[in-house]
Amino acid sequence: MNKMTRPATSGPRTVDEITGGRRLRRTRKADWLRRMVQETRLTVDDLIWPIFVIDGENRRDPLPSMPHVERFSIDVAVSEARRAARLGIPALAIFPNIEIGLRDQTGSHILDADNLINRATRAIKEAVPEIGIITDAALDPFTSHGHDGILREGVIVNDETVAQVAAAAVLQAAAGADIVAPSDMMDGRIGAVRDALDAAGFQDVAIMSYAAKFASAFYGPYREAIGTSGLLKGDKKTYYLDAANASEALREAEQDVIEGADMLMVKPGLPYLDVIRQMKDEFDLPTFAYQVSGEYAMIEAAAANGWIDGERAMLESLLCFKRAGCDGILTYFAPRVAELLKG
Ligand code: PBG
Repeated sequence: MNKMTRPATSGPRTVDEITGGRRLRRTRKADWLRRMVQETRLTVDDLIWPIFVIDGENRRDPLPSMPHVERFSIDVAVSEARRAARLGIPALAIFPNIEIGLRDQTGSHILDADNLINRATRAIKEAVPEIGIITDAALDPFTSHGHDGILREGVIVNDETVAQVAAAAVLQAAAGADIVAPSDMMDGRIGAVRDALDAAGFQDVAIMSYAAKFASAFYGPYREAIGTSGLLKGDKKTYYLDAANASEALREAEQDVIEGADMLMVKPGLPYLDVIRQMKDEFDLPTFAYQVSGEYAMIEAAAANGWIDGERAMLESLLCFKRAGCDGILTYFAPRVAELLKG
């Protein structure tokens, strides 16, 4: 590429001499033409809406670090699910804020068929069957220490956690989850969840693997939303990926594909577009990104200060996921984007 050949004596060249007559701006000259050559598009079908559920009735709890995001009691979540379905959003992802008194060292309440996430799933599925439900099969909302695994003598124990997550996935499927999303990064979780689902007769429940989940500073507002930020001791670096490692992320994804993942996800989103692209190219499975709470908060905070145009930043960030190879995005912006795309 980098071959500049210029006769030593002939002075500055014209632009046509420099470009060989190629004028790349031609296809950008008008809106109609830019639309004609646009390579990727964002549609409502690309949106998965993560929602937070809380106990109680008729409750909408605002989240200070996530403007425009509220935690819903189940009845409100049902009506929001109805609104989402009307907007054409294909699926919701449910995250529960579990009462502190129900959390323990092993996250045992995840095995209660009537816990908050299962009740929410059942209620939404019954009232709004046409919207897909994704459940996070993870212990962190249920443990007294905020970790995604069972903690024994300071160690997150892998195999015991896997067995519990697999059992929880079956309960979530029984409650009506269409897709379970194991998000703990334990070894062997995808195969174990697949086996457990199949054994229980849930062959048609799909697995979206949090294939590459990074130990990230961008989860802060989420931890506030589900009430784990005050509980979490230490970090998640013995199970989540190091932000520095893309090859390891691909090995994780490969393992999940071998074990039976139907879809892959990368989390967080924007700082990891390279991983998304590599994963899509390598495995060619439906690939998703989770635009996490901290990413959302950054855009919102800058917009609230008048430092960026929030709406444009929102749309641009989501379009860029598509360009990077995503088939869809979990995003707290989902209902707002859906409204915008509709209008
Ligand atoms: C953990 C989990 C996390 C998120 C969803 N489920 C990460 C964590 O707390 O470590 C983050 C989502 C977000 O930040 O929006 N199972």
